[in-house]
Amino acid sequence: MKKIIGIDLGTSNTFIYVDGRGVVFSEPTIVALNSKTKQTVEVGYLASKMIGRVSDDIEIIRPMRRGVIARINPTIKFLREAFKRANIKSVKNTTLLFSVPSDITPVERNAYLDVGKAFEVEDVVFANEARLGALGSGTSSKEIKGSLHINLGGGSTSIVVSSGKDILVSRSSYFCGNLIDEAIMRYLRKERHLMIGEKSAEFIKMKIGSLEFTPENRLLEVPGRDILTSLPHNVTISTNEVRSVILPLAEQLMNHINDVLIVTPPEIASDIQENGVVISGGTALLTGMREYIEKQINLPVRIAPDPIACVANGMRTYIKELLNN
Ligand SMILES: Nc1ncnc2c1ncn2[C@@H]1O[C@H](COP(=O)(O)OP(=O)(O)OP(=O)(O)O)[C@@H](O)[C@H]1O
Ligand SMILES: [Mg+2]
Repeated sequence: MKKIIGIDLGTSNTFIYVDGRGVVFSEPTIVALNSKTKQTVEVGYLASKMIGRVSDDIEIIRPMRRGVIARINPTIKFLREAFKRANIKSVKNTTLLFSVPSDITPVERNAYLDVGKAFEVEDVVFANEARLGALGSGTSSKEIKGSLHINLGGGSTSIVVSSGKDILVSRSSYFCGNLIDEAIMRYLRKERHLMIGEKSAEFIKMKIGSLEFTPENRLLEVPGRDILTSLPHNVTISTNEVRSVILPLAEQLMNHINDVLIVTPPEIASDIQENGVVISGGTALLTGMREYIEKQINLPVRIAPDPIACVANGMRTYIKELLNN
C-alpha cells in the first residue's frame, strides 16, 4: 500500500504526521549549522534557544519565509534531523504531503520538489493549509455545506471557502505573526529609539498584544539597546500602543477576507452564516483576534481546537482520502 507522510512545514513550527502513529514531530522550524562546515548542530526547540546567544561559529537559520521554503539546503538538513528524531528511517518509496499557503507560485512549489528529490521520495503532493485546518477542526469533507476557514500562521495567512472536498475560493494575505513582530520592532526603533530582537518582539505580542480596546492599559517593561548610545536600555510599552501597531495590519487582513466573501456564491454564504467561520494557526491566539474578525464581518467566529496543531491534525483525514482514491 502507498505510504504517505504529512509535513506541515511552517514558517514558525513544523509538524510531521505519520499514518498509524499520529503526530511524531512538532518543533520550531529552525536549524543551527556550523558556519564553516555547514554541519547540523541542532534543530527545533534547542536551536530556537540559541537565537541571539551563540557566537558567529554557529549560524541560526529559519529556512521558511512567508509560508514557503526560502532556503532549500537548510530545509533538507532540518527535515533530515526531524525524520531521525521521529524514528522515520527512510522516506524512499514514500509520498510527502506538504501543507502550503493559498497563493503558492509554481517556482515556490519547485523548492518542495527539490527537497523531495534530495530524499529520493516517490512523489511530492500539496494541500492547502487552510483546507487542512478546516479538516483538523472537524469540518467534514462528506458534507456538501459551505465553510470558511482562515489559517493565521507565523509567515502566512490562507483563507479558504470550501464545500465538501472542493475549494471554491482561496487566497492568501500577507498578514501573519512575523509581520506583527516586525512592526513592533520597527515601532520601538522609530518612536522609542530602542533596538530589540525578534524573540522580544514576539514576547511583547504574546504578553500584551491585543486587538481589543481595553480600558485597563497594561504595561510591560522591555529591555533592549538604545540606538543613539548603543547602551542597554529599558522602555515601558502599553497594550494600547501595541494595539495601534497591530490594528493597521489587521485592517489589511479584513480587506483580504472581504475580497473572499464578495466572490463567495450566495448559497455558500448562507451556509457560512449558519455555521460560522473557523480560525486556526498560532496567530488565531492573539488576544482579541476572534472578537475583532467577528465584529468586522458580522459572522460568528470560533477558534479551532488545538489551533497550532490543527493543520497537522487535518492531515489524518486528508491522507485517508488520498489512500482511498
Ligand atoms: N498566544 C499567542 N498570541 C499571539 N500570537 C501567538 C500566540 N501563540 C503563537 N502565536 C504566534 O503564532 C505564530 C506561529 O503560528 P503557527 O505555528 O500556526 O505558524 P506556522 O504554521 O509555523 O507558519 P505558516 O503556516 O504561516 O508558515 C507565531 O507568529 C507566534 O508568535
Ligand atoms: Mg502553518
